[in-house]
Amino acid sequence: MKKITKAVFPVAGMGSRFLPATKASPKEMMPVVDKPLIQYAVEEAAEAGITDMVFVTGRNKRSIPDHFDKAYELEAELEMRGKTELLRIVQEVIPKNINCIYIRQSMALGLGHAVLCAKPVVQDEPFAVILADDLVDGQPGIVKQMVDVFDKYQCSVLGVMDVPREQTRQYGIVSSTNLEPDVEKVTGIVEKPRPEDAPSTLAVVGRYILTPRIFHHLEQVQPGAGGEIQLTDGIASLMTEEQLLAYRFKGIRYDCGDKLGYLKAIVALGLKHPDVGEKFAEYLKSMK
Ligand code: G1P
Repeated sequence: MKKITKAVFPVAGMGSRFLPATKASPKEMMPVVDKPLIQYAVEEAAEAGITDMVFVTGRNKRSIPDHFDKAYELEAELEMRGKTELLRIVQEVIPKNINCIYIRQSMALGLGHAVLCAKPVVQDEPFAVILADDLVDGQPGIVKQMVDVFDKYQCSVLGVMDVPREQTRQYGIVSSTNLEPDVEKVTGIVEKPRPEDAPSTLAVVGRYILTPRIFHHLEQVQPGAGGEIQLTDGIASLMTEEQLLAYRFKGIRYDCGDKLGYLKAIVALGLKHPDVGEKFAEYLKSMK
């Protein structure tokens, strides 16, 4: 039986929807309360037993490797000042027994191309793809839930949720037949269809478990929607030779690539935060 030990984080995007905040720093480093988006994503992977974090990075992304590296000066300073709790927080950014691997995607040719850049590291193993700007609040995390589905069926699994029909243009949309509660057998997938053309309203969120055969298909894919090499098109091609499942995850997904979604994530996680949750709730109630 195959195990998922690697996760690919495509983090080379420009983050243009958050300019000017993302002019000099990556969107994946934007904080939700006190942790950057990419840290939520890495913790979710680690919870699912993944040990190798493969970041596909680009220009202006140096703060990501810095974030997951030891910060000698900061740690020495905190230790000297006796700030043991803060020291613990800083040291725990890197989950135990985790390897971080960085690959540079020098040209932003699309999500499918970014995933293909990870081929030399992933090689011949099934792996997860995690888009950090989709923050999913779930218990357990969505990657763990999807790994459980993979363990049972040993095939590619997409994380999906229902969206309003007018939003199909923002997502990969699947057509499917039901296999068991929350698990669908995918019969088709299309990137960002118009509402009137969408085969359903079941949308792919930024969580994928893929077999290594995806690389073969991504190598053949031609630029699709938006002139980019789309992961969705690679998956559509993979589907012609392998079973593909979609899993309706349990949890709430926040689209942190969008200003409103990002604000919703901050409110939801702020209200749950042990330090500030109660006071934040009081403050929100007091607002007109
Ligand atoms: C990407 C994928 C799309 C998926 C979405 C989830 O689109 O191409 O299929 O539904 O992520 O967030 P993007 O949001 O990068 O445009």
